[in-house]
Amino acid sequence: MLEKIVKIVEQAGAIYRRADADKGVEEKGSAVNLVTKYDKMIQDYLVGELSTLLPEASFFDEEGEGDNALTDGYCFIIDPIDGTTNFIRGYQHSAISVGLARDGELLIGVVMDPDLNNIYYAEKGKGAFLNGRPIHVTDCDMAHSLVLFGTCPYERHLGHRTFTLAEQVFYRSLEVRRGGAAALDICYVAAGKADLYYELILRPWDWAGATLILREAGGVAATCEGNALQADTVSSYCCGNPDNLKEFYALYNV
Ligand code: IPD
Ligand code: CA
Ligand code: CA
Repeated sequence: MLEKIVKIVEQAGAIYRRADADKGVEEKGSAVNLVTKYDKMIQDYLVGELSTLLPEASFFDEEGEGDNALTDGYCFIIDPIDGTTNFIRGYQHSAISVGLARDGELLIGVVMDPDLNNIYYAEKGKGAFLNGRPIHVTDCDMAHSLVLFGTCPYERHLGHRTFTLAEQVFYRSLEVRRGGAAALDICYVAAGKADLYYELILRPWDWAGATLILREAGGVAATCEGNALQADTVSSYCCGNPDNLKEFYALYNV
């Protein structure tokens, strides 16, 4: 099953890379929340292929309409393009993210970085991989951590809290970065390219696939309040290793 999902996501990456200059950009409720014809094309492609692969599965996906929620049984959680603003601007830092849950528990995660042609994947209990090589989170404390964060661009009222926290983290860490694709941020932590990531609001399709990869890479993920993540719930999000997360919680709770 994992190998077949990897192949399907790689094909979705080919659709992303074939995008032409006319991306068909539309606003989704606000001038900063954008969608393109490629978000829809990739989602339709993934839903078509994954339904053939696992006909009993339902779908919980960012661009879905109607009954779009996590369901019991098998459910794919999909973000067809995570980092749509980056994609529109040609910033070349976006992801295609697929998670497979059963009764709300994540079993498989596949996240592709189509610009770098990198594919991150994991199956529960079997470790995490980047292009076939095992990956692992680091054990850096905060002082040695490269910290990634998201700005909750669709919830601008969280801007002050986000940047105040980023300032506090900056003074105590190696450095901070804001990349613009949450699923890739989490995979970067999983692969030891960075050490901690947080964002004050995230949706399950942003984190589901990547979080299974992160956990299989030895990482820890939870809400910023320290509660368990729920794949049907919008919440804050942080991930890293037990040491740097402990220091992060101390800053978050000031
Ligand atoms: C967004 C990106 C961004 C994060 C936002 C997400 P989208 O996803 O992951 O980095 O800060 O919270 O919503 O809208 O590009 O799929
Ligand atoms: Ca997203
Ligand atoms: Ca998206």
